[in-house]
Amino acid sequence: MMEKILVVGGAGYIGSHMVKALLDKNYPVLVLDNLSTGHSELLTGGEFVQGSLGDKDLMDRIFTANRIGAVMHFAAFSLVGESVQQPLKYYRNNITETIALIEAMVRHSVQRFIFSSTAALFGEPEYTPIDENHPCRPTNPYGVTKLCVERLLSDCDAAHGLKSICLRYFNAAGADASGAIGEMHEPESHLIPLILKNALTDTPIKIFGTDYPTPDGTCIRDYIHVTDLAQAHLLALQALLDGSQSCAYNLGNSIGYSVRQVIDLARKVTGKTIPALEEDRRPGDPAVLVADSAKIKRELNWVPRYEDLEKIIATAWKWHAR
Ligand code: UFG
Repeated sequence: MMEKILVVGGAGYIGSHMVKALLDKNYPVLVLDNLSTGHSELLTGGEFVQGSLGDKDLMDRIFTANRIGAVMHFAAFSLVGESVQQPLKYYRNNITETIALIEAMVRHSVQRFIFSSTAALFGEPEYTPIDENHPCRPTNPYGVTKLCVERLLSDCDAAHGLKSICLRYFNAAGADASGAIGEMHEPESHLIPLILKNALTDTPIKIFGTDYPTPDGTCIRDYIHVTDLAQAHLLALQALLDGSQSCAYNLGNSIGYSVRQVIDLARKVTGKTIPALEEDRRPGDPAVLVADSAKIKRELNWVPRYEDLEKIIATAWKWHAR
């Protein structure tokens, strides 16, 4: 029997696309999700256990009853703004719960871990595009929690031989080409899904900050399609199964789009007017985040299929307009 891949947070936005990618490659999948922000209707297959990482008995039961070959960890809170308002919520969920997961792995000698990390751990860029050697000085609690886990993983490799690959996502966007699964946050705060939801109801989109040191004054981000992200995880998983050392990769398309450019492309894709309102800056937002993803392309042969933001928005629109 092939060892199972435990996907923690597999009912969330990125986790559910990962589950689909694993099933497409015939990996046996076990999803653990507490459904605090996930949705069981996003699960396209595999086994599902509803529960929390902090439930030690449950974790022991999972690792005893199943041969787990690797763990992929998507279960975290991920809103930069909310993390500034409610840091304790982020430290508890993103660090304490992750420690409980890694403790269970160490107890049961499961040695391969793929971690959803983030561009938010770099903070205000010292140079751009941002490669893996860029200093990590997060400007918000969310980024701090992810940096803590990256450090913890490095220490657990040294102490326990736990091998990990940390994937630092820039801005995940888009939806599976089928239109069957996609982004579903309640309340929604991410730019692209908000623009598209507002397009459906003719509600204006707020632009948070128009005085940034960028060409049009709005923040610049690097949007990466969720299916390309999932493919990168498959490559990272294969690398760990083949005996890779622990490492980290930045994941983006290396193209920056301003908030105004994103809104303009969404107008083009949807054919809707989409009014915009200029607002103050949102605390914790760096002005520019653009990835240098040369390392994962070179080492794991990652080839993104959706480099064009218009295509990314079109897949998201198919999902939102369904
Ligand atoms: N924005 C608006 N109006 C909105 C929503 C967002 O102007 O209604 C702006 C934000 O201020 C930011 C940009 O659009 O400048 C993108 O904002 P998102 O909330 O969509 O995404 P973030 O860049 O804040 O964060 C996302 C993920 C994080 C990840 C980060 C890495 O949510 O988990 O990308 O770049 F760390």
